Amino acid sequence: MNKKTIRDVDVKGKRCLVRVDFNVPMKDGVITDENRINGALPTIKYLMDNGAKVILCSHMGKPHNIFTPGFGLTKKEKKAIEALPAEEQAAAKKKAIEDALAKDPKKFTLAPVAKRLQEILGEDKVAFAKDIVGEDAKAKVAALKDGHVVLLENTRFDAGEEGRDEEFCKKLAEFCDVYVNDAFGTAHRSHATTAAIVEFGLVKTAVCGFLIEKELSVMADALENPVRPFVAVLGGAKIADKLNVINNLLDKCDTLIIGGGMSYTFIKAQGFEIGNSLVDNEKIDYCKDMMKKAKDLGKKLLLPVDAVVVKDFPNPIDAPIETKVVDIKDIPADMQACDIGPKTRAMYADAIKSAKTVIWNGPMGVFENPILAAGTKEGAKALAEAQGATTIIGGGDSAAAVAQLGFADKMTHISTGGGASLELFEGKVLPGIACLNEK
Ligand code: 3PG
Ligand code: MG
Repeated sequence: MNKKTIRDVDVKGKRCLVRVDFNVPMKDGVITDENRINGALPTIKYLMDNGAKVILCSHMGKPHNIFTPGFGLTKKEKKAIEALPAEEQAAAKKKAIEDALAKDPKKFTLAPVAKRLQEILGEDKVAFAKDIVGEDAKAKVAALKDGHVVLLENTRFDAGEEGRDEEFCKKLAEFCDVYVNDAFGTAHRSHATTAAIVEFGLVKTAVCGFLIEKELSVMADALENPVRPFVAVLGGAKIADKLNVINNLLDKCDTLIIGGGMSYTFIKAQGFEIGNSLVDNEKIDYCKDMMKKAKDLGKKLLLPVDAVVVKDFPNPIDAPIETKVVDIKDIPADMQACDIGPKTRAMYADAIKSAKTVIWNGPMGVFENPILAAGTKEGAKALAEAQGATTIIGGGDSAAAVAQLGFADKMTHISTGGGASLELFEGKVLPGIACLNEK
């Protein structure tokens, strides 16, 4: 990696503004997965141990910009309001704004993360600011001692974050002698705290933390210098999200395995009926192009040969459900495929186990339902059993699936970034990394 890291700068006594990704899953105010917090700790501890004043900032979820006067509603909310009779719209808008102001501060606050950091790092060492660049943040930053930490409130409460507002960036830059990006999970976003503050020239020293360094070294290395055979496993519902990923990975890997909802567009492109299975009819030609590309390059492109089908999609998602296994050519017209079948599982497991490098992004079926989780589970098990292989799990759903199925500690690397790792797999340059100082 050619970017400077916190090791390359003197941080003693300096105010280090550290962008982390504390967008952790929460249920009723309780953090349900701490992978991202743990991922940020080496950087935070290093900065504390080296006498920096550590100012942490992150977004959480997709809140309204409640700190910004006259903030807007979401697209969905606007659409719902526009669908109402004209005379009801003003009142509905007022109510939606009141709701946001009442609910968002509880639902999207970073306060529970601050509490967790206090437990890990010491209650006296970690403060929480109730705003981002307001009076509370200013006072707490001014009072920061060397080796101590303040976490600012959710940056997306201010419209300036996603809007890359220069005034917002300037206020943040006033807190900052050294900018550190360690938010790998958000490095594909070009927002105020992830990139714009540096791009506007408001901070001169901009380096990455250990999490970004590690994520990049493991994943970029696997992509650029893989020990072969290199097998890539892609799943998930939507093919449209993975078009460039498939294209780029076909160039790099030896075998590309496709499963999950997106595989049925390929099956349709092969000329088979897929019943009510997920399909993106606009991408049939794309699938044909990719099958041809694989053939031309001499790469293996593995697609399901059988499927687990159901009549109706389970509702709730983990409800008991009747299933049937069918050959991929025989998906009944009134049924839909929700997992890969046993022959496919065995074929995929063989390919995965013979690999020396495996990257995986996206589940093979509706893994949230135990009856439809076999494909994802056997895939994860094959990764866990791949002898001497580097095994990398792209974040998001795949990371959740591997953790839920109990294979997390068997993997070489589980990324803290879903969207970000996918963009790396696409071969894109991530804005949160591109803006940092070169070595
Ligand atoms: C994520 O969870 O994908 C990252 O934290 C980025 O969040 P976003 O998708 O809301 O931008
Ligand atoms: Mg996301």
